[in-house]
Amino acid sequence: MSEQRVLTGITTSGSPHLGNYVGAIRPAVRASREPGVQSFYFLADYHALVKVGDPARIQRSTLEIAATWLAAGLDPEKVIFYRQSDIPEIPELTWFLTCLTGKGLLNRAHAYKAQVDKNLSSGHDADADVTAGLFMYPVLMAADILMFKAHRVPVGRDQIQHIEMARDMAASFNHLYGELLVLPEAAIEASVATLPGLDGRKMSKSYDNTMALFAPREVLRKQIAGLVTDSRAPGEAKSTEGSALFEIYQAFASEAQTQAMREAFAQGISWGEAKNQLFDCIDAEIAPMRASYEALMAHPERMEDILQAGARKARQLATPYMAQLRSSVGLRRLQQPADPASKAAAKVSLPQVKQYKDKDGLFYVKLVDGQGRLLLQSLGFDLPREAAQLAQGLQQGDADAPKQHAHRLMSVDPALQPALQDALDVLRLQKTS
Ligand code: TRP
Repeated sequence: MSEQRVLTGITTSGSPHLGNYVGAIRPAVRASREPGVQSFYFLADYHALVKVGDPARIQRSTLEIAATWLAAGLDPEKVIFYRQSDIPEIPELTWFLTCLTGKGLLNRAHAYKAQVDKNLSSGHDADADVTAGLFMYPVLMAADILMFKAHRVPVGRDQIQHIEMARDMAASFNHLYGELLVLPEAAIEASVATLPGLDGRKMSKSYDNTMALFAPREVLRKQIAGLVTDSRAPGEAKSTEGSALFEIYQAFASEAQTQAMREAFAQGISWGEAKNQLFDCIDAEIAPMRASYEALMAHPERMEDILQAGARKARQLATPYMAQLRSSVGLRRLQQPADPASKAAAKVSLPQVKQYKDKDGLFYVKLVDGQGRLLLQSLGFDLPREAAQLAQGLQQGDADAPKQHAHRLMSVDPALQPALQDALDVLRLQKTS
């Protein structure tokens, strides 16, 4: 239980901008490298359908956001990176939660309430332009989180209420059906900057003041040229306080560079020169990523493969867990005992490490996946201790265990190699659940 599961979703409704990069992507990629953390990042495309009715835009945004996260350094081998709509267990869990969520709770959701207030103040019907999708948004989001037993959910302040609602739903479920869901907590990063936009207000699509993350360099240069400043002339001392230019610079510069810029402001650097330095500083961080972004954008099929691999990993967890949840609510085989929360149904579909003594008196280890396929078979060990050591490595999902014991293993069918990797991932993840 020492490993923390951290999960967050990104709605695929637009193109990532510099504010998203500094405020969400960069800190999340850094956090995913921390030891003792198992991270889940997913593209929330079911959520995007609530806002976007343009299929091409949904698809384009999914590709752009996925490519951005990978270009920014997210390692899909290390984290579980998937697309929400590849996990059919999520909408199924959404329905379970829908059936125990009070309508009154959803009436209080900020996004829904804001729309109602707007309607009323402009003299319209309270529910004008409110879809059931907007109303149900918090339930879908709770299913995202609860499906993977996330402990922590890093989100912006505007999403805290959603996490609290997810806790409420999990508690109601557990009360009715047994302690099966994990109660998540919101994680708010106090130190993460919100970047100002071109007009000095918070950078946001709704203000139309964003700076593109992976636009061609010349576009970035032009956008920076248009960044608001005051009218102080070259040679006049400038204030860093409230300067959007300085704030953006600080988000990309080292401490020493920031200090040098602070002094340059005091000594009256011209706005033109300050903008040049800002451009160089942002470009130094973004340029290397831009190349891998462009390569991924040019090969959507590679991106698709990566997402499919992520979905396989995610479903290795979601499918058996969902079987358990289905059974616990009473959607189960008729001969199954009425005993609540029977884990038996779920257990069979998990990979299993088996240790046994054979007729020849030797000790063997094998790994079988949820579908009963033999993924790994050892040769005979003289000592049970040797077999146990291998079994333990596999049980912990140690990806190196097969390599370390290669000389004691029968060769693996190359076609089953990906399934072996998946099974080890699942075993490793099971430790935390
Ligand atoms: N609602 C989130 C947002 O707009 C996106 C999201 C969907 C999400 N599902 C999630 C975030 C689950 C965290 C966990 O930013």
